[in-house]
Amino acid sequence: MGIFARTSGKRGRVVAFINQKGGVGKTTMAFNTAYALKCQGAKVLVIDLDPQANLSLLFGLDLSLAAESDDLTESSLNIHHLLINSVRELKALHTGVLWSELIYQRDGVDLLPSSQELSGFELSVAGISSPRQMILKRFLERNGILDQYDYIIIDGPPTLGLLVVNILCAAHGVMIPFRPDDFSRKGLAHFYRVLEDIDDMGVSAKPTVLAHIPNLVEKRRKQEGCDLNLITEELVDRSNCSNVVDPFYNRAQLVKSQSQKRSVYDYSSIEFAQLQEKFNHLADIIQEASYEQ
Ligand SMILES: Nc1ncnc2c1ncn2[C@@H]1O[C@H](COP(=O)(O)OP(=O)(O)O)[C@@H](O)[C@H]1O
Ligand SMILES: [Mg+2]
Repeated sequence: MGIFARTSGKRGRVVAFINQKGGVGKTTMAFNTAYALKCQGAKVLVIDLDPQANLSLLFGLDLSLAAESDDLTESSLNIHHLLINSVRELKALHTGVLWSELIYQRDGVDLLPSSQELSGFELSVAGISSPRQMILKRFLERNGILDQYDYIIIDGPPTLGLLVVNILCAAHGVMIPFRPDDFSRKGLAHFYRVLEDIDDMGVSAKPTVLAHIPNLVEKRRKQEGCDLNLITEELVDRSNCSNVVDPFYNRAQLVKSQSQKRSVYDYSSIEFAQLQEKFNHLADIIQEASYEQ
């Protein structure tokens, strides 16, 4: 069990689940780890920063229908509009909505939802002169969001573009789910170069890599087991983070809970108890980490 956070005066920590590959478990891990942290007594906000909005769907929110009508009511506004509102130069595009008006709460965890409009983020901010990579960080700081939560958990998109650079500049820690295959090896090598680039830019400290999480590992496939060892060695080498957690195997319970839009903490069978333990461990890593910034 982790410590109980939110001791007075302690600022919230931003932790992002990142991998530029899709289908590796970012959304699954962000969702269940948010509930693990909540069960440990922490106050948690999750921010969906994937235009595909899968995390928002897990919370039961589908803003795409509302957005299609071109009618900007509060029910269709999302993180995209909040980010745009926080850029003074884009005044013509401002919607005037407050972040607190867009919070959707379910079972004790708060969500700032996403929608497909977020795929236009890069283009929307292409012409501004203020630092484009700092928009998310400034949005969080200017609104005092770090003072309201113990943890802000971010679900990232399957890209390595400006949105991810914004996430990396705003995050104190990153968790990296991956599937042990050759593509992951190359992809993650690229990711670590982006982290170094952020460090080199000197505008923001790079986040601490908190853990690598092998996911969807097939127990019976020898070849993959072999890859996992190789990849593990390489990851540890590149990232200075020796924390590679025990693999998550392919589990029907995860598919079932997500199709029912529930976290693993909503079930009580022995199989779910094992999964709960695994997500508790991820939450412990987040709670016990010493962040550099
Ligand atoms: N350990 C697992 N066992 C079974 N299914 C999983 C597991 N991890 C993820 N999934 C499923 O794989 C798909 C992709 O996972 P997701 O979390 O959406 O990945 P990402 O966000 O990286 O694209 C989802 O349908 C999810 O339910
Ligand atoms: Mg996802």
